[in-house]
Amino acid sequence: MQPGGNDAPPPPRHVAIIMDGNGRWAKQRGLPRVEGHRMGVRAVREAVECARELGIPYLTLYAFSLENWGRPSGEVRTLMALLKEFLTSELPLMRKHGIRLRVIGETSSIPFAVRQVLARTLSATAENADMTLTLGLSYAGRNEIVRAVRRIASEAVEGKILPEAVTEDLFSARLDTAGMPDPDLVIRTSGEIRISNFLLWQSAYSEFVFTDVLWPDFGKSDFLRALEEYSRRHRRFGLTDEQAGAPPAK
Ligand code: FPP
Repeated sequence: MQPGGNDAPPPPRHVAIIMDGNGRWAKQRGLPRVEGHRMGVRAVREAVECARELGIPYLTLYAFSLENWGRPSGEVRTLMALLKEFLTSELPLMRKHGIRLRVIGETSSIPFAVRQVLARTLSATAENADMTLTLGLSYAGRNEIVRAVRRIASEAVEGKILPEAVTEDLFSARLDTAGMPDPDLVIRTSGEIRISNFLLWQSAYSEFVFTDVLWPDFGKSDFLRALEEYSRRHRRFGLTDEQAGAPPAK
């Protein structure tokens, strides 16, 4: 039986993580912030491995927000370098385990050298179907929504769609996450309790788990704890307990 009992929701198909706390992790140790990011990459590897072992088909990681471009240039450069390194070093494992890489965000702002490696990894893994690892890069939820609206407006101007044809499904299909299920579970580390412009449309009915653990310390046991907490939730999607098949709240 699942930890949540018979009424537990099915295991999440899509887990999304706001990886926060790298800077504080470094500060606590008297290290430069970039060391926190470096250790954060280790936690990224562990999270991917954990999701794969548990058979979670979609894992989405918020690696770099559109707003993060405003950080000190040295920190941005290091994050881009770490990303480039990650995309190269993880490719053999992605191939071996059938992991497809996807990216969401305004990727045109990413430096050319990183975009080149990104394009290579995206195409090398495009046919993989066991798991999808999505990285939020230069990503912001409002920006994604605006870009989707622009696409739809262009199609309307070109006479390809009528206003009545714009449905929630059509809108979802114009987002960067087109074709992916919405996240069942969103995890945020480091004790901050906010969404920070992440998957705004897609997380309408997500369950949220917030943990005080700083991202570089987030390991398998923390991932499992978050899944356990998820399994105790009763998802109602706006219905009553009875309709949703959950026991009434005590
Ligand atoms: C938030 O911590 C984290 C980030 C802005 C970057 C996340 C990046 C990584 C985990 C490493 C690179 C990722 C990949 C996929 C290679 P923060 O710096 O805001 O921490 P703070 O709130 O403690 O200052």
